Formats: sequence, C-alpha cells, structure tokens
Amino acid sequence: MPVHVLDHSLAKVHLTAMRDERTATEKFRWHLSRLAGLLFAEAAKDLELETIEVKTPLTTTQGHRIRRKVVLSPILRAGLGLVDGILPLVPDMIVAHIGICRNEETALPESYYAKLPSTLAEAEVFLLDPMLATGGSAVEAARQLKAAGANRLRLVCVVSAPEGIAAFKAAHPDVPVFTSAIDAGLNERCYIVPGLGDAGDRYFGT
Ligand code: PRP
Ligand code: URA
Repeated sequence: MPVHVLDHSLAKVHLTAMRDERTATEKFRWHLSRLAGLLFAEAAKDLELETIEVKTPLTTTQGHRIRRKVVLSPILRAGLGLVDGILPLVPDMIVAHIGICRNEETALPESYYAKLPSTLAEAEVFLLDPMLATGGSAVEAARQLKAAGANRLRLVCVVSAPEGIAAFKAAHPDVPVFTSAIDAGLNERCYIVPGLGDAGDRYFGT
C-alpha cells in the first residue's frame, strides 16, 4: 500500500506552526485540529459510497452516502488531538480508543487500555496518531484493531519518520498511510527530527 504525503498549502502552514517551539498549547491544539481535518479529507477521499435518491425542491436526483460506518481510533494520548477536527466531517462517526505509551527507556510500546466497538469488521477504520516515530505504537494498535475484526484500515499521522514508515509497511502492508510530512529520521532517543517534540506534552500542556 502506498504512503500518501498530503500536498496542501494549508497543511504546510499548520505543520510549520506546530513545529515552532514558540507555539504554545492553545495554538498547537488549534493547528493540529485544522491539520487533522485536512489529513482526514485526503484519507477519506475514496471512501466507498452508495447511490441514493434525493428529492430537491425542484425534482428528484441521485446523490451519495457513505456505505459503511466510519470509526476513528486515536492512540491515547496524543491521537486524541486529531479527533475534534475530524468529528464534524462525518457526524455519526464512532470513536474507539487504544491506550499505548512508549516506554521512555526502550521506546517500545506498552498497551494500557482498549475500548473498541463490536462492529469493526463492517467499518472503515481510521487509526490516528500525530507521530509515527519507530512505528512501534502504530504497529501494535493496528494489530489490536485487526485482531478485533478491522479489515478496512487506514493510518493517519501528522509527522512520520522513514523508520516508522518502514516498520509499519513491513507489519501491515495492506494498510495505507496518510501523513503530512516524512522527516529526516530519529535521534538517539527515538524522537523524530526535525519533528515537533513530544506531541502529547505539547497538546496537553504537560
Ligand atoms: C507518542 C506518539 C505515538 C508514539 C510514536 O506517544 O503520540 O503514539 O509516541 O512513537 P513510536 O512510533 O516510536 O511508537 P507517547 O508514547 O509519547 O504517549 P502519549 O501520547 O501519551 O504522550
Ligand atoms: N513521540 C512524540 O511525541 N514525538 C516524537 O518525535 C516521537 C515520539
């Protein structure tokens, strides 16, 4: 499956503001929310539709609705930052939650929570996380979603490292990746460079 890098002027501007260390929490949230909407629009571009009939004030014509239920699955915590920018775009979406935290010493993912709907097998599932660094968290989250039945899965992330993309593609070659940037790589602490720092800390102000 290909990696889609969003090529959109507004996305570039939002991402630049998020990278800037002077951007405080309130503005960081605002930019992430806007960027999430743009990324989701790209990732949802080819969502399968069904044709329906609609009656306008003048006549009857053909229109469309999304064929399957849409499920957002943010990886806690930082993935929550993408949710409110996406929710208004498809108002009846379901929000699943997967809690995964990187171990600060090993950078390996540790799962601590999951609340998934029972309808994943029939849904279009969007896995959300602002950062794809080593890829460990996204690989594990996608594994959990598939184990719970998901078979139409897409990964949406803001900043990716080549290492994370390689790891994710190796583990889940069937899952397309949508990102707004592929950065140079990881530093010795497995942070993305140039990146934007710790997304969760910047979003939640911790
Ligand atoms: C960050 C980020 C991803 C993960 C990416 O979360 O939001 O989930 O790291 O790194 P990886 O690709 O190497 O797994 P973190 O573990 O810091 O937890 P948080 O969202 O609670 O801050
Ligand atoms: N998690 C983050 O929040 N930022 C990184 O650069 C890597 C992992």
